[in-house]
Amino acid sequence: AGEPATFPIPANVFAEKVTEVKHYTDRLFKFRLTRPASFRFRSGEFVMIGLPNAEKPVFRAYSIASPAWDDELEFFSIKVPGGPLTEHLQKIKVGDTVLMRKKPTGTLVNDALLPGKRLYLFSTGTGIAPFASIVRDPETYEKFDTVILTHTCREVAELAYGEELVAETVNDPLVGEVVSGRLVYFGSATREPHAQTGRITDLLKSGKLFEALGLPKIDPETDRGMICGSMEMIADTKEILESFGLVEGANNNPGTFVVERAFVG
Ligand code: A2P
Repeated sequence: AGEPATFPIPANVFAEKVTEVKHYTDRLFKFRLTRPASFRFRSGEFVMIGLPNAEKPVFRAYSIASPAWDDELEFFSIKVPGGPLTEHLQKIKVGDTVLMRKKPTGTLVNDALLPGKRLYLFSTGTGIAPFASIVRDPETYEKFDTVILTHTCREVAELAYGEELVAETVNDPLVGEVVSGRLVYFGSATREPHAQTGRITDLLKSGKLFEALGLPKIDPETDRGMICGSMEMIADTKEILESFGLVEGANNNPGTFVVERAFVG
C-alpha cells in the first residue's frame, strides 16, 4: 500500500523523461521531454502520447511543437476536466516518465504545399502547436519569403504561449537570423478586449486581417495556408480559403492549403 503500481512499458513506445512543465492558464500548459536519439519527424507532424499508469495506457494525438533540430520534444496541451489522458498529464512533474508511440504522422507538412511567397498559419487554441514547430524550422523559410502565424483564443492569457514562442524564435541563436523580419505574428482574442479581437474567419472575410498586416488579400498565385483548430474552425476557414481560390493538398499531391484538427482529450 502507498506505492503506486508500476506497469511494463508497452512495445513500440519510447519512455521519455519530462524536462520542463509550464502552466499558462487553468486550461493550457506546455511540457518538454527528452528526445530519443533515433526519433525523426517532419515539422508539423504529431505523435501519440500516453502515461505509464495502466496496463493498457490511453494514448492521444499530440502535435510536436518543437523543431526538428531541437534535442528535446515540446508539446502544448489543453487540460480537459475528466479527460482520460489530460486529467493525469496536467499533473506531470520534471523527472516523470511519458510514453510516446514511435511513429510520427500528419498532414501539416511543407511537402503537402506548393512553394509560394507567403505561408499563412491559421490556429485557434492548442492548434498553434504544430505551427510552433514549423515557424522554428529553417526549411520553412527556404520555401517561403514570409510566414504569418495567426493565433486566436478566447482569452488574452491564452495567447502567451504563441507570443513567447515568436519572441524566443526571433532571438534564437540558431534560427533568429533566418527568421528575422520574415516571421509575422497576429494574435486575436474573442472574449476579452485585446489589440486585435474577433474570430480569424471574420477577420479574413472583412479584410481586417490584411489591413492589419498591410498585405494584399490572399491570392492562390502567391499565398499558401495551413489550418489547425476545432472541426468547426477548420470547416469555416477552409471554406474562406477556397473562396480565395486555394485548393487543399496532401502529402502525395501538394496543393495551396492543408488542414489538421487540433486534438483534445
Ligand atoms: P469564440 O470565442 O467566438 O467561440 P475553443 O476553445 O472553443 O476551441 O475556441 C478557441 C478560439 O476559436 C476562440 O477564440 C473561438 O472563438 C474560436 N472559434 C471557435 N469556433 C470557431 C469557428 N467556427 N471559426 C473560427 N473561430 C472559431
